[in-house]
Amino acid sequence: MKPKFKKNILCIGAGYVGGPTMAMIAYKCPQYKVTVVDINPVRIDEWKSNDLPVYEPGLDAIVKKTRGRNLFFSSNIQQGIIESDIIFVSVNTPTKTFGVGAGMAADLQYWEKTARQILQYSQSPKIIVEKSTLPVKTALAMERILTSNNNVHFEVLSNPEFLSEGTAIKDLEYPDRVLIGSGLTQSGLQARDELVEIYANWVDEKRIIRTDIWSSELSKLVANAFLAQRISSVNAISALCEKTDADVGNVAGAVGFDSRIGDKFLNASIGFGGSCFKKDILNLVYMCRCNGLNEVADYWDHVLRINDFQKDRFVVNMLTAMFNTLAGKKICLFGFAFKANTGDTRESPAIYVARRLIEEKACLTITDPKALKNVRIDLKGIDEKVTCIDDPYEAAFESHAIAIMTEWALYRDLDYDKIYKSMVKPAFIFDGRNIIDHNKLYEIGFNVYPIGKPALSHF
Ligand code: NAD
Ligand code: UGA
Repeated sequence: MKPKFKKNILCIGAGYVGGPTMAMIAYKCPQYKVTVVDINPVRIDEWKSNDLPVYEPGLDAIVKKTRGRNLFFSSNIQQGIIESDIIFVSVNTPTKTFGVGAGMAADLQYWEKTARQILQYSQSPKIIVEKSTLPVKTALAMERILTSNNNVHFEVLSNPEFLSEGTAIKDLEYPDRVLIGSGLTQSGLQARDELVEIYANWVDEKRIIRTDIWSSELSKLVANAFLAQRISSVNAISALCEKTDADVGNVAGAVGFDSRIGDKFLNASIGFGGSCFKKDILNLVYMCRCNGLNEVADYWDHVLRINDFQKDRFVVNMLTAMFNTLAGKKICLFGFAFKANTGDTRESPAIYVARRLIEEKACLTITDPKALKNVRIDLKGIDEKVTCIDDPYEAAFESHAIAIMTEWALYRDLDYDKIYKSMVKPAFIFDGRNIIDHNKLYEIGFNVYPIGKPALSHF
């Protein structure tokens, strides 16, 4: 009997990357069976439910179309490995918190455990695809583990993921590029072609970059470093704008008009967050230091230092504007997610700001359409000073100040007249994302403090 599916794909790690990425492959390639496994059974149950563990616009619809057809979620890692032809490894690779390289190097324990599980259960040849972001030469370590005591042939490929949270489905469906790195041996190139064949079901071949494995691994870290660098560049200039009455929006617009520079990713902000920029730059800096390239390490490290400076500046500006004391004042944070259209709060600048405001003895009210469930976890130990409220009007009621942390579209269009009337006067608004109409709010009566633009104050 002809098998129902052409090949079995397994993905180890059902997180922000594993879930959506595999859902897209299953959606575009009905001829492949795609199974996603995870050590966390709760996560797997959530993927099987109507309340997916990851919020991404468009994800629910794709999962609905594919789940049970050729997309499956399971906790049986052993069976998944045995049945698979191609295994994507999409486990977390956070910054190491202990031992050598603590606070900088990537923690590879989850990834290595996966390699050992693959070795233990495999009975047939497999292609192993690194989807996680990893230090250069990780594929070599994986290959060494996989060839340590088994006759099964493994081919390791690097296929880093470039999706952004909040736009993951669009990014996966219309990627700028798909990067596939392989060994340059005949079997390496053959495995690479097999992976190209999967993506070619919906991605134009011209956008599929074939390269060597080390360049592929490094390109992922460098892409994130370049993106974060742009934000730190514009944020550094925002500080100068505030001292010189220039407007960072106008400066970024003028600079970005140069087609060599481009206009994307130049929005000044309270600082970048998210699970990856910081950890990937730390990883890059660590690799440079390990290779004796201290000047290069220092260069990239400054991208992070400017990001910390930006967050700190924001809090100090709040304190200074509000007469150098926040003690006992009610401050409302609009947004807690690290960016709009996601419930993810990993490394969100809002966490830092909340902590600092609580240190100043402010009372916080936090509102966010998707991320409130994380507030108690992220502010553990100090959360008795925090109230979470879904409705932004209710959250801002009787507050001394509002601070916009996340660029949710809904915060642009609120009835700020109504909000102003309900607040303690003088009322302040600190726009950490430059998303509201500053002049309009000033006219309503607010004292308005944008990023990188002159403040509009009634004093
Ligand atoms: P995540 O924490 O959301 O998911 C990782 C999952 O792997 C978790 O559910 C965890 O339980 C599981 N896991 C860990 N060890 C396991 C094991 N031995 N067996 C089975 N499951 C295991 O992480 P994420 O955000 O999906 O990121 C995964 C990787 O992708 C990271 O390397 C990250 O840098 C990279 N990446 C993330 C994004 C993003 O937007 N989040 C984008 C591109 C690349
Ligand atoms: C980022 C990259 O954009 C993805 O290509 C990459 O795959 C991913 O990291 C990863 O490796 O995890 P993500 O962190 O999801 O994606 O979101 P971004 O859109 O890059 O935003 C990151 C942070 O920068 C957010 O806090 C955002 O608000 C901030 N940002 C972004 C700015 O402050 N200004 C900008 O102009 C753009």
